[in-house]
Amino acid sequence: MERLGVGIIGAGGIAGAHAKAYAQLAPAVELMGVADIDEDRARAFAARHQVPFWTTEAEELLRHDEIQLVSICTPHHLHAPLAIAAMEAGKHVLVEKPMAVSLEEADAMIATAQRTKRRLGAIFQLRYEADTRRAQLVLERGLIGSPFYAEVSCLWWRRPVYYEVSWRGRWSTEGGGAVINQASHHVDMLVHLLGLPRTVQATIDTVAHEIEVEDWCMASLHWDNPPMHASFCASTAAELETDVSRMIILGTHGSIQMFPFRPYSRYEERLTEIAEACREVEEPPYPGHSAQIHDFVRCVREGCPPPVDGVEGRRSLELITAIYQSAFTGEPVQLPLTAADPCYTTAGKLEMARAYIARRAERTS
Ligand SMILES: NC(=O)c1ccc[n+]([C@@H]2O[C@H](COP(=O)([O-])OP(=O)(O)OC[C@H]3O[C@@H](n4cnc5c(N)ncnc54)[C@H](O)[C@@H]3O)[C@@H](O)[C@H]2O)c1
Repeated sequence: MERLGVGIIGAGGIAGAHAKAYAQLAPAVELMGVADIDEDRARAFAARHQVPFWTTEAEELLRHDEIQLVSICTPHHLHAPLAIAAMEAGKHVLVEKPMAVSLEEADAMIATAQRTKRRLGAIFQLRYEADTRRAQLVLERGLIGSPFYAEVSCLWWRRPVYYEVSWRGRWSTEGGGAVINQASHHVDMLVHLLGLPRTVQATIDTVAHEIEVEDWCMASLHWDNPPMHASFCASTAAELETDVSRMIILGTHGSIQMFPFRPYSRYEERLTEIAEACREVEEPPYPGHSAQIHDFVRCVREGCPPPVDGVEGRRSLELITAIYQSAFTGEPVQLPLTAADPCYTTAGKLEMARAYIARRAERTS
């Protein structure tokens, strides 16, 4: 099998999970280069993971002939420009979540992937967990009846020091707070299992941190065909003994709780069918990022579209954008969003975020 050369842009916290996943595929895959604007970080990462080439210039990494696939592990606002530059340079791209800070950027990435015929993947590693696939199977087979209500919570605590990293806590670089960053996994899971809602009404606030972006959000989501409702809460200001990640789906004949996955029905025959469906799904050989990264490598090699491609990555971003738009305007927002929606573009969303910051400042002064 021909060796696949890979590179990583952004050598911070999450990059190690990418390096580890590629190392598990050696020698068929080789991590050949790393780029980080922080020279010490780039050098140390290269030494730690035995990467033969490091640079402080992403553009230099993209000129490396032997690199065919690039993982983008940078701050959010750089995902789209770097992914587009990488695809233009002929590389396949696997981008960390959220794939972009706006739908405008996500659409440009998808269009570039189509034009350059490169593979574009968006990291949502929870989709590869066996329990996610089990939940999907239980829902697809109607084993809990028709879902009518979901409750999704991402109640986490982030210490103030977390926001001392310059790109976090700012609308221009993080693109939002608890919703687009920490809860992007929860939003993706909701959309993956239940589809995009029709209407969203949301409120955000910044309650516990000295940051521009929200550290708390509450939203109600409504589907109309079939009718279903969900409540969603995300926070990085939840001082609980341990972080809470919860998803409950109530159906007419049972329920699913995650995480961990606990399906239930009071009908014994349904419980048996649920147990049988769950046994059909095997645990992936490697947990976490590795399962998705290995699958993306397989798709690049076999020339097939990755299951979580740009279009799939965009879905949760659409709901996240609708949540922000509703919070900024105080009005319910209808999906699908269009290019005419004020938060569709990066500039439009930023302008509305600035008005939110000003309103908050007025309120708290
Ligand atoms: N999938 C997950 O569960 C998960 C978990 C954590 C983080 N993430 C995502 O990973 C991404 C990175 O997060 P992190 O926590 O590793 O952040 P981080 O701040 O630790 O690392 C980002 C790195 O990017 C570098 N960088 C900034 N600008 C650059 C440029 N122009 N070129 C090259 N390098 C540049 C920084 O110097 C830094 O080393 C974010 O998108 C985040 O949401 C995903």
